[in-house]
Amino acid sequence: MTWKATALTLFPEMFPGSLGLSLAGRALREGRWSLDTLDIRSFAHDRHRTVDDTPFGGGAGMVMRPDVIDAACAAAQAEGAERPLVYLTPRGRPLQQSLVRDLVAGPGVILLCGRYEGVDQRVIESRGMIEVSIGDYVLSGGEPAALVLLDACVRLLPGVMGAVESGEEESFSTGLLEYPHYTRPAEWNGRAVPPVLLSGHHAEVAKWRRGASEAITRERRPDLWARFNENKGGPASASTRPV
Ligand SMILES: C[S@@+](CC[C@H](N)C(=O)[O-])C[C@H]1O[C@@H](n2cnc3c(N)ncnc32)[C@H](O)[C@@H]1O
Repeated sequence: MTWKATALTLFPEMFPGSLGLSLAGRALREGRWSLDTLDIRSFAHDRHRTVDDTPFGGGAGMVMRPDVIDAACAAAQAEGAERPLVYLTPRGRPLQQSLVRDLVAGPGVILLCGRYEGVDQRVIESRGMIEVSIGDYVLSGGEPAALVLLDACVRLLPGVMGAVESGEEESFSTGLLEYPHYTRPAEWNGRAVPPVLLSGHHAEVAKWRRGASEAITRERRPDLWARFNENKGGPASASTRPV
């Protein structure tokens, strides 16, 4: 069954954007996933097609109206409510590979792209939305965040990545960041490739990569490193430096 994505947005022209190209674009054309957009403005019911209003309690900016957003959600779920409804927001749980894997395992996703100051809280709650953030910074709208989330999902769909591009060893799949990569030439600008990678000893290469992964995670992401060790049930052993 085709993995189905629907974006609820005030800017349908932003889709498929970068997802029309490369791996995701090919997979879209091959029917491995589908992408629809629903223009939130078409669910407004006054003659000015108003989608936002001033915040109760005062303050700057505008808030997206719950009745308009609810109607858009209902239309997206018209065929059934199996697909999770994700609201992209800086306030949400951080987008992580584990969530990406969970979403890919399901039938697809409906993505609500906010604008202005965001969406009225009542419709977030009444529709049981999952709130997801792509990072600790503020974008002007949810569309780039939706494209990021979809990119991360689509590449994991069956048949999208070739065996060579398999995601099994990449960052986060083991709870660690990925080891460094090297290709020809073996020496470049006075910089040599770590000799073990030229040795042809697969076990030694695997050991070096594992050590490099651990070292780079420990140095760059103490939070991931701590979680990795918790899950392992003890302190890490490797002390190999990656470069
Ligand atoms: C200008 S932002 C609103 C920011 C909001 N007032 C706040 O302080 O959290 C407009 C919309 O962009 C999207 N957005 C902004 N930053 C995001 C992020 N880091 N992750 C996901 N969506 C984001 C959300 O859909 C949000 O409703």
